[in-house]
Amino acid sequence: MKITVIGAGNVGSLTAMRIAQDGLGDVLLIDIVKGLAHGKALDLEDARPLLKHNYNIRGSDDIAQLKDSDIVVVTAGLARKPGMSREELLAKNAQILKGVCLNIKELARNAIVIIVTNPLDIMTFYALKITGFKPGRLFGMGISLDTARFINLIAGELNLPVTDIEALVIGAHGEGMLPLPALAKVKGVALDEFIGDDKIGVLVSRTVARGAEIVANLGTGSAFFAPSAAIAAIVKTIVKDEKRIIGLCSYLNGEYGIKNSCIGVPCRLGKNGIEQIIQLDLSPEEKNRLTKSAQLVAAAAAQLLA
Ligand code: NAI
Ligand code: 2OP
Repeated sequence: MKITVIGAGNVGSLTAMRIAQDGLGDVLLIDIVKGLAHGKALDLEDARPLLKHNYNIRGSDDIAQLKDSDIVVVTAGLARKPGMSREELLAKNAQILKGVCLNIKELARNAIVIIVTNPLDIMTFYALKITGFKPGRLFGMGISLDTARFINLIAGELNLPVTDIEALVIGAHGEGMLPLPALAKVKGVALDEFIGDDKIGVLVSRTVARGAEIVANLGTGSAFFAPSAAIAAIVKTIVKDEKRIIGLCSYLNGEYGIKNSCIGVPCRLGKNGIEQIIQLDLSPEEKNRLTKSAQLVAAAAAQLLA
């Protein structure tokens, strides 16, 4: 299994490390900056004797090396700076993504593609249009990270292990994000049995703002430890054909009453990509917000494609 990670920055290099260390396949790291991916791959390779793990990783600045990849993870692009929204990244990252996607289309047309570059939902829809790939084989990572953040914050508030919490975030990986507290459970018991609406509201707000909170603290760049863990979990689900349900930014064709856009929803994932889109029973307000986010994504992508 050839797994290529494009973009050897914070998210890409950590993703390559996790995928290699998890033994998921032969990893190729690519970056446009001369020597960067190669240097990081050499460093990651040197760790093998220490980790007692003979994983296969290499790096290159030659995009043509992605030829015949089975899975491609796209992290190429600029990250947010303090005070900068994901949407401000739009124009620059669209330009980068277009070039990368045209190469994927030409060189790895059978690959499953995971888009990570922000603004995530717009970039995913844009990438889908540029490659013309089947929707189930190109999707975005965003709400599985947001879900992890929601669960982590709930666990912290209740002083319980994260493994005791079940929760879900859908919608845009951005301001339109929709944490769903009504579906959150602690070992099967509804979250509101443990804490009141005020505290739940704070957890929801903190989840939506978590990416920005990290950006503000870092001072430069955005989150990468949890994002790379979220990507590696998706790659593992595909490689091992786990058929798990994971939140992904997926193309919708009538599901949730939304047509011809991409937005975050729970999906069943296996070796061929998305096998099923899970339809949740949303309140009218939640459905409305999801629809609005999807409309914004389609409108922004249409501008890029015009
Ligand atoms: P970074 O700045 O550390 O790395 C980006 C890398 O992309 C750089 O090394 C750069 O040289 C490379 N790059 C730029 N153009 C390229 C091209 N044409 N071909 C190959 N490589 C190219 O940024 P970081 O932190 O790794 O984030 C990467 C992207 O992922 C950003 O857009 C960020 O907003 C996004 N992101 C998305 C998340 C999500 O949940 N969807 C979570 C975290 C980051
Ligand atoms: C995050 O949520 C930057 O999208 C990235 O941390």
